[in-house]
Amino acid sequence: AGKKSAKINIACIAGARPNFIKIAPLINELTKVNQFDVTLIHTGQHYDSTMSDIFFKELNIKKPDVNIISGSGSHAEQTGMIMTGLEKIFTAKRPGLVIVVGDVNSTLSAAMVTSKMVIPLAHVEAGLRSYDKKMPEEVNRIVTDRLSDYLFTPSADANKNLAKEGIDKRKIFFTGNIMIDTLKKFIKGSKPRDILKKYGLKKNEFCLVTMHRPSNVDNIEVLGRLARAIREISNSVKVIFPVHPRTSQKIKEFKLEKYFSTPGILLTEPIGYIETIALTSTAKLVVTDSGGLQEESTYLKVPCLTMRENTERPVTETEGTNTIIGTDTGLLLRKFREIMTGKYKKGRLPKYWDGNTAKRITKILQRKLLQV
Ligand code: UD1
Repeated sequence: AGKKSAKINIACIAGARPNFIKIAPLINELTKVNQFDVTLIHTGQHYDSTMSDIFFKELNIKKPDVNIISGSGSHAEQTGMIMTGLEKIFTAKRPGLVIVVGDVNSTLSAAMVTSKMVIPLAHVEAGLRSYDKKMPEEVNRIVTDRLSDYLFTPSADANKNLAKEGIDKRKIFFTGNIMIDTLKKFIKGSKPRDILKKYGLKKNEFCLVTMHRPSNVDNIEVLGRLARAIREISNSVKVIFPVHPRTSQKIKEFKLEKYFSTPGILLTEPIGYIETIALTSTAKLVVTDSGGLQEESTYLKVPCLTMRENTERPVTETEGTNTIIGTDTGLLLRKFREIMTGKYKKGRLPKYWDGNTAKRITKILQRKLLQV
């Protein structure tokens, strides 16, 4: 007796662009309480400096304790490589808890390895469902939630989804949207004026476009249709379109460059977090298929038109500024006109999108793991 036991090791897993934004506030809070040994493992799913390094720099995320060299590949290849890497790491140092965030392939890989090694697993952003299994992320979400011991949900709909699936209520904690923690922290210092100047844009006079879902960009007919609609929008307002590597490959492959070569459209490399939020906060509207941007635009009260058939984040539509458009470019242009003429809905903030999600999660983990 009297000998102080070692701190419980919490392994935080991140691998792809949206993961970095979600893990940052958690690492901060978990470290701050000084009761845990917090490590960060980068699974290597995203590896380009514009897809990974820039987020570490901008968000002040500590250097990963371990990096797995995995990279791109088919779903099985990517998931397999990350699983093999993680199994070795957890065998060398067995964590007391593993935290995964979001719904990317890394999230699923980590959940499966953790669960098979009988290590407790926490999922942040649990319970979201699009009810569309054609989206790889939906499969990742379902399996990860099924395997998790602590499910931290971002919105009330997530709690309902989990209840429907018969998940034990005692495992579910409504803690709010972790993305908003990061957004709230960094939006003030984001210097939109400088960024608008850099790109030659004016506040409220441009549209931010992002697109990377396989269902939109891997199909020549759909991508062509969306490209024409974006071109149409660019006749009324300037368009800035930072192009994800997947999309960039497809635009070249399908020879669609011509739609984007007009003075009204500015194509850029993928941009970092600070520029993204600065542009989102000053845009007239956002046109996207991203999950994160649907939420960020709701928080910033900027109209968002989502080019997907459904969303796993329905509060952005029922309470926020989002409209689900699908790939119906007629509807896209109608909603665009509503926005331009000031007739579009205004939206309000969903519950617990307040910047305190990481704090709530940390308190719960202290209570559960340290019995304080
Ligand atoms: C992944 C996530 C998606 C998330 C998105 C954010 C899955 C199934 N999908 O999609 O949910 O919204 O990240 O960006 O996990 N590539 C590079 N450099 C990189 C990373 C990727 O050039 O650093 C290229 C590669 O050609 C790769 C392709 O982009 O094959 C797709 O990358 P991948 O991680 O498989 O999926 P994303 O489309 O990025």
